[in-house]
Parts: sequence; structure tokens; C-alpha cells
Amino acid sequence: MMYPERFSNLPEATWPRLRGLLDSITPGDTPNVMTIGEPRHDFPEWVPDVIAQTSDLFGKYPSNEGTPELLDASVGFLKRRYGVDVGRENVVTLNGTREGLYNAAMVLCPEQKNGQKPIILTPNPFYQVYMLAALSVGAEPVYVPVRAETQFLPDLMSMSEDVLSRTAIAYVCSPSNPQGAIASCDYWRDVIGLAEEYDFKIFADECYSEIYRNDAPVGAMQVAQEMGADPERVVIFHSLSKRSNLPGLRSGFAASGSENIKQIRMLRAYAGAPVPMPLQAVAARAWADDAHSDANRALYQEKYAIADQVFGGIQGFQGPEGGFFLWLPVDNGEDAAVKAWREVGVKTLPGAYLSKEENGTSPGHGYVRVAMVAEKQEMQRGLIALRDCLYR
Ligand SMILES: Cc1ncc(COP(=O)(O)O)c(C=O)c1O
Repeated sequence: MMYPERFSNLPEATWPRLRGLLDSITPGDTPNVMTIGEPRHDFPEWVPDVIAQTSDLFGKYPSNEGTPELLDASVGFLKRRYGVDVGRENVVTLNGTREGLYNAAMVLCPEQKNGQKPIILTPNPFYQVYMLAALSVGAEPVYVPVRAETQFLPDLMSMSEDVLSRTAIAYVCSPSNPQGAIASCDYWRDVIGLAEEYDFKIFADECYSEIYRNDAPVGAMQVAQEMGADPERVVIFHSLSKRSNLPGLRSGFAASGSENIKQIRMLRAYAGAPVPMPLQAVAARAWADDAHSDANRALYQEKYAIADQVFGGIQGFQGPEGGFFLWLPVDNGEDAAVKAWREVGVKTLPGAYLSKEENGTSPGHGYVRVAMVAEKQEMQRGLIALRDCLYR
């Protein structure tokens, strides 16, 4: 059998690797699973009604790019949230951002950049689809280390001339998974300016944009418009998975200049798996429902306060600015995950399992990731048990 060589050296995927580490160990207490980032707050109560009312539409092939109502709802969200003016031709519906983050690279990464194999920059640690997208399109993934010293964001400004001249796409996630860092307006200005100078696109993964501690994070498209940058420079990705606690709906959108969106629509027209119409009806309503999203954020803000209380004073601990993960500093993430599971039954994810090891080091090595998705009391119990196990 012949298989493509470009996938032959992939690091083992996160979840099988975690099972290999922990499955043979008996948990020390009732299991408290804090690994997977699956929101567990309620989704809006009207969701089942909308599905019931539109269920006859299961009998129709869905619109590939999104119904006009859904596209308008996405446009409306961008206007309210970021003050940006875009039209329907600037947005395309996705089956969740993961699919879009992958497929956008398929149609927006050229075969060559300045006569050479293109580079796709990805933060490290990272959401794994960035790496797969780069390898799938035959680009070279370049892993940009994300550490406390880089304010937990990829320092694209430190990339060499050689790398930047070959860069076709840079993935940037804000608020970031796993570190919970938020890109400031200045950060975006720098990287968008860099992208203008070296002619690459920024794929801004903003799927956690509605979950934040203090001020609403600025968006990459917002900053690009303020700068007067090329509208094709930035593609933003948004999701209902975290905003509305609907990860099973599989609904998100991408927004950008109309040329980029035309390309993504073209791919969807040939090969896309469109979102069923009743689910598009739910999505249209969810993008307009800021009250639910605000209430959801308030729950996470309570959780940030609990995490600060539990881990405050621990050397190197920095509470997240956004998103719902804690990125806890430890000596060795694998050892810490084994200890926490064995001694107190709390399941965490070693940071190295979200990272690419290079030259024998991994920027995720000294961390475990903890998802604050469970109900508040359960989450608090888990955090206290973790602290007492790992830091006392
Ligand atoms: C950083 C990041 N990007 C994208 C996604 C994909 O989310 P979805 O496809 O549900 O929109 C996730 C999901 O956990 C994520 O953590």
C-alpha cells in the first residue's frame, strides 16, 4: 500500500497519547476529568424548539455557503462585536472552525512562495489542525515557540528574513488555547504590518473570542480595517462551540476579503459537507443571542476568580485572560499528570501533548492544561485537589 509520506512523522495525536499515559493507572479518587475542552454550561433553551420548527428542512440539501439569514447573522455579530463593516460576500458558514481552519489552507496556500516551498507558521503549543493543514497542502510547518517570555503569544516579529519571505500563512489564536493569552491591538498591528510587508495571510483563530476576563479582546479583522490593510490579509474564524455551548451543532464561520471567501466557497461547492438547514436556523439565532453569551461569560468569570484564589501565589501561575483553560506551570507535565491522576483522581493534559518537540525541547513540557468546563463546585474541588497534590 502507498500512503503519503508527508504524514509519516506526525507526533502521536493528543488523546491516544493521553490514554497511553493514564489508562493503566487507577485514579486515587472519584475521577474528575479536566482534560477535554468541551463546554458543559447550558446552551440556549430555545435550541430544541428551533430544530423542531424547522425539521421539515432536513428533507432539503442545505446551502453550502450558508443561508442568507445565517450570513446576515454572522455579519451582524461582527458589526456589534467589532464595529467592522462587511457584507454577505465576506463571510462563509463552516461546520465549526476546525474544518474551516483546515480547508482555508487548502485554497489559500499557494504551491510556492517566492519560488520556494511555502511555510505555514503555527504557534507551539498549538491546536493540532494547524499542523495537519500545513502538511496537507505540502507547506513546511514552522513552529513558533510560545512561552512566558513571549507573553504566551507567538513572537512572529522574531522570525528570520528567510522564513518570512517563504511564509504564506500564519495561524494566530486569540484568546489562545492552551495559554489563555489575548493578542492586544499593538500585537495585531505588528503582525498584520509584518504580513503586509512579507505578503502572507493571517488565519486568526478567534473561537474563544466571547470568553474573557475583563475587556472584550480586539479582533484581527477590526485592527486590519483600522490600519487600512489589504482586506485579503486576514481571515478570521468564529464558532458557536464556545460562545453558545454548542460544540455538537458544528457551526462557525470564516470572514475575510471577498476573494478569499470566494475561494473557500468554491471548495465547499465541490467538496464541502454543508451544515443541515435546521442547524443553520439555530446558528442564525445563536449569533444574534448576545444575552446568552453574556451570561455564559459571567460563569467563566466566576471560574477565573476561583482559579486565582486557588493558585494565587504559586510561582509562575498566570490566570487566563480569556478562554477556559488553565496553563499550570510544573516541572514535568507528564509526571504531574500521572501524579494528579494516581493520587487525587484529577485528569489533566501534559502540555507537551499539545506541542511539537524540536531539538529535544518542547515549549509545553513544563505545563499541564486544565479545562474549567465542569460545573463550578466540581471544578473548584478539582482545582483544590490539584493544588494540594502538585504544589504542597
Ligand atoms: C484553538 C481552537 N481552535 C478551534 C477549535 C475548533 O472548534 P470548533 O470546530 O468546535 O469550532 C478548538 C476546539 O477546541 C480550539 O481549541
